[in-house]
Amino acid sequence: MLDLSPKPGDLDAIETAPLEELRALQLARMKSSLQHAYDNSPFYKAQFDKHGVKPQDLESLADLAKFPFTVKQDLRDNYPFGMFAVPEDKIARIHASSGTTGKPTVVGYTQNDVDMWADVAARSIRAAGGRPGMKVHVAYGYGLFTGGLGAHYGAEKLGCMVIPVSGGMTTRQVTLIEDFKPDIIMVTPSYMLSILDEYRRQGLDPRKSSLKVGIFGAEPWTQSMREEIEDAFDMHAVDIYGLSEIIGPGVANECVETKDGLHIWEDHFYPEVINPETGEVLPDGEMGELVFTSLTKEAFPIIRYRTRDLTRLLPGTARSMRRMEKVTGRSDDMMILRGVNVFPTQIEEQLLRCEGLAPHFQVELSRADRMDQMTVICEHLPGFEGREAELAKTLQSYIKDVVGVSTVVRVGAPGSAPRSEGKAQRVRDLRPKD
Ligand code: DLL
Repeated sequence: MLDLSPKPGDLDAIETAPLEELRALQLARMKSSLQHAYDNSPFYKAQFDKHGVKPQDLESLADLAKFPFTVKQDLRDNYPFGMFAVPEDKIARIHASSGTTGKPTVVGYTQNDVDMWADVAARSIRAAGGRPGMKVHVAYGYGLFTGGLGAHYGAEKLGCMVIPVSGGMTTRQVTLIEDFKPDIIMVTPSYMLSILDEYRRQGLDPRKSSLKVGIFGAEPWTQSMREEIEDAFDMHAVDIYGLSEIIGPGVANECVETKDGLHIWEDHFYPEVINPETGEVLPDGEMGELVFTSLTKEAFPIIRYRTRDLTRLLPGTARSMRRMEKVTGRSDDMMILRGVNVFPTQIEEQLLRCEGLAPHFQVELSRADRMDQMTVICEHLPGFEGREAELAKTLQSYIKDVVGVSTVVRVGAPGSAPRSEGKAQRVRDLRPKD
């Protein structure tokens, strides 16, 4: 793999600034962000008043803990534009979450917000090894989802040639990679696996593709998956994180030279990790729920938003900004089986240890005789026909030994496990709703 480490002068000054400078900038910005939210968003005014806090009560960064949290339900209650802090004619763009249940949640951007987003997305692509003049194939979905347009504006801002493919039509994805020879692909890791399958189906060697870097996010993925993809394509696989409520992709990104967790672009998004049960702020290094406060957003300032993503904060390495560990999963995705907490990423890790199994999988939860049961649906690689039972047994014992739960494993023929074209749906809950 190529050495894509940054050269002196490649980075924004703040990325390597002394911590005191970063903290001073954050404090000044946090004060004005709280004031802006309080003065211009009736929702925040009501929230702060209810909790008896005023923007002036923030004298240090730690004082943020005095302010109330914001949760997804607040966005639903204020659907569609009720949380915006600028008049509608100042909104340059909206995005929305898919809203699998009920109404989608809507977020808005002024032109300055769109520009700031492009800046942090460009910084993310550069952290991943992108440089002006490179070609970027964007296979995140374009539309209300922030993935496609967020990646697009970032790549353009960095000075790259953007290839705006969007998701789906996997055969064509491969044709376009082969014909246009992009250096970078931006796509969900699960969809990258579908693209990998298609390479093999067409008899092409993925290691000979032009791709040097994949910037993967929008869903949890493991270190083992990184190794799988890096090895298959002979390219760097780097993690990008974000969520629409905060801005979209580009809240945090791994650096290609270290690949040791995602540096949070803390000059725009202030992170905290809390105990999800009590709401107490945890010291850096402790695992909990990630919470963000926007420091520079105009249309949709967001104060202490509970992401439901579980991770911990670590000190900076390749950049001054703190890192967040790869997200283990969302609290919503956590399955509890006979008292044991299980995340789909733990299943992914064990599956990738099994030689002969393909990396595609889904977990089904069902209930028989009042007992919850977990079934892992996966498939074997070509050439492992007739060894389904043996493979199932191996995976079952890895999951039992490492994760600590008993599962049923169903190993099907190549192509039988569900495929993703965007965010993978890892868990199907078939249990009766009580
Ligand atoms: O998924 C934004 C995005 C697009 C990020 C493209 C990266 C690349 P939402 O649809 O609002 O926004 O979903 C946000 O996705 O709270 C996490 O649970 C999950 N997620 C996003 N990135 C990662 C990641 C986009 N790198 C939700 N690792 C977040 C794990 C991630 N989970």
